[in-house]
Amino acid sequence: MPISRLFIVSLILFGPASVQASPAPERPGQAAIASPHPLATQAGEEVLRAGGNAFDAAVAVSAALAVVEPYGSGLGGGGFFLLHRAEDGHEVMVDARETAPAAARRDMFVDEQGERIPGLSLDTVLAAGIPGLPAALVHLSREYGRLPLGTVLAPAIRYAEDGFEVYSRLLTGLERKRAELAASPASAEVFFPAGDLPELGSRLRQHDLARTLRRLAEQGHDGFYAGPVAEALVAAVQAEGGLWTLEDLAGYRIVERAPIVSRYRGARIVSAPPPSSGGVVLATMLNILEGYDLQALPADAATHLVIEAMRRGYRDRALYLGDPDFVDVPVARLIHPMYAAGLRAAIRTDRAMPSDHLPGLGAREDGPQTTHFSIIDGDGNRAAVTQTLNFWFGSGIMAAGTGVLLNNEMDDFSARPGLPDGFGLVTGEGNAIAPGKRMLSSMTPTFVETPDGVAVLGTPGGSRIISMVLLGVLARVDEQASAGEMVARRRFHHQYLPDRVVHEPDALEAAVVEALRARGHELEETRRDYGNLKVVTWDYGENRVEAATDPRGERGEALVY
Ligand code: GLY
Repeated sequence: MPISRLFIVSLILFGPASVQASPAPERPGQAAIASPHPLATQAGEEVLRAGGNAFDAAVAVSAALAVVEPYGSGLGGGGFFLLHRAEDGHEVMVDARETAPAAARRDMFVDEQGERIPGLSLDTVLAAGIPGLPAALVHLSREYGRLPLGTVLAPAIRYAEDGFEVYSRLLTGLERKRAELAASPASAEVFFPAGDLPELGSRLRQHDLARTLRRLAEQGHDGFYAGPVAEALVAAVQAEGGLWTLEDLAGYRIVERAPIVSRYRGARIVSAPPPSSGGVVLATMLNILEGYDLQALPADAATHLVIEAMRRGYRDRALYLGDPDFVDVPVARLIHPMYAAGLRAAIRTDRAMPSDHLPGLGAREDGPQTTHFSIIDGDGNRAAVTQTLNFWFGSGIMAAGTGVLLNNEMDDFSARPGLPDGFGLVTGEGNAIAPGKRMLSSMTPTFVETPDGVAVLGTPGGSRIISMVLLGVLARVDEQASAGEMVARRRFHHQYLPDRVVHEPDALEAAVVEALRARGHELEETRRDYGNLKVVTWDYGENRVEAATDPRGERGEALVY
């Protein structure tokens, strides 16, 4: 089969999609993958060529990213896998979010005055939740894939064993996390093999990680959650005063959850349910914006309304969201169009609403870690997957003999309701720490279905994930943007607290900035561009698939074949 590769290294504009609704062809016949690393995309391609489907490819890409992008995600972390099976339309989100260990306590990260103890939820073994990613790989392969787990994990095992070339973003991460990684002997051995930062272009090998992946391939769930790997993980955590037990690992389960479905101007939006806040916040923002014709408004007025929708969506995140297995999240109410109509009624077109005028909670800055990939296969199966260790390399601590980096996802809980987390996000009682509970997330893997086709999208970016996905959805639905146009779109963000609009350099024209300031918005230009959106699309008109990776990502690779 001929292969055409699409390397997106700068802004690429494809022709506009058809505005005429076309009946959906039975199947696209071609596949598309957009991932942040060429080796991960190639792992997906290898598996598709071997007769696998999008779900096999998702396992292959996910595991490959755990090897070649160790700062973004890994076997020691978690993620959300949003799936659509073409043959029966089955839609599900496989929730592989980490859980708090059984001995976790709600005030474990604060002192007697209720103040956060610096670093405890970020750089220590206490920061790590019980990992979910390995369980998801096994589950996806068994329930949805066609090929044996060993076949789909083979590329990742090869990358770990034979190594891959050190690239500049990896070096940036290693520099930023140098002290923490160096303090963990197993991490130091892998990442600083000669005692210092590796050379650009040198090979980084992870033999222990290869062995752990092989165990997973051969033994499935128990290859990670029981036996030597589990024992090594628990020993490493307990040696440093952490809380994990063998029972915590043995008890870890993924949860299959119904996605959040909402509508925006004739499009059907399918996204991540709690314990992600993404789908609910996205639905609220789109419901608010449904009441306006953004395209017909001057740029400053439209941007103002999008900011006010973001403010309200993120306010609800702070107030209401948490793990639905522990707290009652009023999802039906929050995503109801009438609820949004009430929020919309209080939006003034001429003035910003200060966040402290909204009933809510009384927030810091954002990080670029986490990772995302999007896949559609020749039959129309889809996977949108966002996975993470939280901040760069998670806690930086590697359990000796496993190659597994421990996440620092516990920081996504509220250490005390109202206290900002590492992203400056504030959450409430619903996101307090409890044994076995999943911490609230912003990861937002999403499908957009319009009469003309389908887009599969998502991005890393901490608290900014949801606003990036919103801008991607607006571009797709309001402007029929192609995959390439969606990823290239300039970005702005408001997350309720802190009460300010952050925007990429040149995202907003000078006149728009001035008009927003006149309405009372505080604006701040980010030092650099942010996000790494990965989009694949299937346009029905020409029965064509496209894949595009964000020009902001260093090594993203989009493949159509
Ligand atoms: N750790 C980032 C998130 O889940 O939102």
